[in-house]
Amino acid sequence: MATNRTFTMVKPDAVADGYSGAILKMIEEAGFRIVALKMVKLTKERAGKFYAVHIERPFYNSLCTYMSSGQIIAAILEKDNAVADFRKLIGATNPVDAAEGTVRKLYAKSMESNAVHGSDSDENAEIEGNFFFSALDKF
Ligand code: RTP
Ligand code: MG
Repeated sequence: MATNRTFTMVKPDAVADGYSGAILKMIEEAGFRIVALKMVKLTKERAGKFYAVHIERPFYNSLCTYMSSGQIIAAILEKDNAVADFRKLIGATNPVDAAEGTVRKLYAKSMESNAVHGSDSDENAEIEGNFFFSALDKF
């Protein structure tokens, strides 16, 4: 059953470049309610756990180094059709392929430093949200 929630991170490049506010504004203006929000810095080990699904991929080690290189903003978002609508808002993984007006087209630097994360399924949204937030955080 669709939960109407998704999970996002503003990634280290976008936080360091001062785009957090602009990205959160785009998210709210697109109709998402921010359910939970925090700024954290992952250790490489913790980033590795978050991205364990990609452990066999050639970019895994680099991704974990990058995701632990600076502060990130983790958030749970709520909207009808949240997972699919959010992936539409952020655009393709590689900013070169991202549609005009999407978060990645506007703020991503590269395939890796691509400004934001968005869950790819309701199931993963739940798992990823629980990675950062306890039940009491999720109003
Ligand atoms: P995300 O999980 O961050 O929302 O991105 P995504 O679904 O669009 O992409 P995914 O395949 O899940 O990859 C996770 C993140 O790994 C980095 N990546 N680097 N160098 C590469 O070929 C490569 N491919 C992926 C990106 O930071 C991507 O968002
Ligand atoms: Mg993904």
